[in-house]
Amino acid sequence: MRTPVIAGNWKMNNTIAAAEKLIGELKPLVKDAKAEVVICVPYTAIQKAAELTRGTNIKVGAENVAWADKGAFTGEISAEMLKEVGAEYVIIGHSERRQMFGETDETVCMRTAQALKNGLKPIVCVGETLAEREGNKTEEVVKRQTEGAFKGLAAADLDNVIIAYEPVWAIGTGKTATAEQANETIKYIRSVVSSLYGKATADKLRIQYGGSMNPANASSLMAPPDIDGGLIGGASLKAEDFSKVVNY
Ligand code: 13P
Repeated sequence: MRTPVIAGNWKMNNTIAAAEKLIGELKPLVKDAKAEVVICVPYTAIQKAAELTRGTNIKVGAENVAWADKGAFTGEISAEMLKEVGAEYVIIGHSERRQMFGETDETVCMRTAQALKNGLKPIVCVGETLAEREGNKTEEVVKRQTEGAFKGLAAADLDNVIIAYEPVWAIGTGKTATAEQANETIKYIRSVVSSLYGKATADKLRIQYGGSMNPANASSLMAPPDIDGGLIGGASLKAEDFSKVVNY
């Protein structure tokens, strides 16, 4: 059985003070969660978040990581730096990075390898745009993104990876994929991993859904067999909402 993992993606929200308040409210609300709980927070809040969640069931992640160890990469942050401040997870290849910051399948692959090499657990995002869905390209796109992200990785590496299927048209729009749509694509992604690494690896891999997931739709989105959790944007910014998703 795969343990579901509910991860918040705070994106570019919350100062250290705001993070302190939100985490303080969140801790008691999720302490009995059956799902694994992760919050991916801005770089500046990681250290405080790690301090505040030490000894609790909340794990902390970052929202990106450099592909190189160190050096002349202005504006980037290394895996070693993220580990030093207490990050355990890292989101890689979010559609906002792909759309606005030039992230490609190749850079997603390099960042994923670098995270794994340093013991950070990547949450690798894939997902189609509305035009791609309407053009019947969903499978082609998520296959290309999945194969691209894991090029050169061994099956054992996949044990530490989570995939987040986030249809771009459902992110921040209030439009959610139906549970059937989400499950169908996630099942397809699992079949892609299965052809790359075999069924046993694919069966163990956790694949989340992300895109306008909230307290009202979480339980129906979590019901289908292939959906192993959620990557939550807007609803992760309020302790009450995020806890309701966590405790779906
Ligand atoms: P929303 O939950 O705000 O739609 O964002 C989803 C997302 O992008 C999580 O990574």
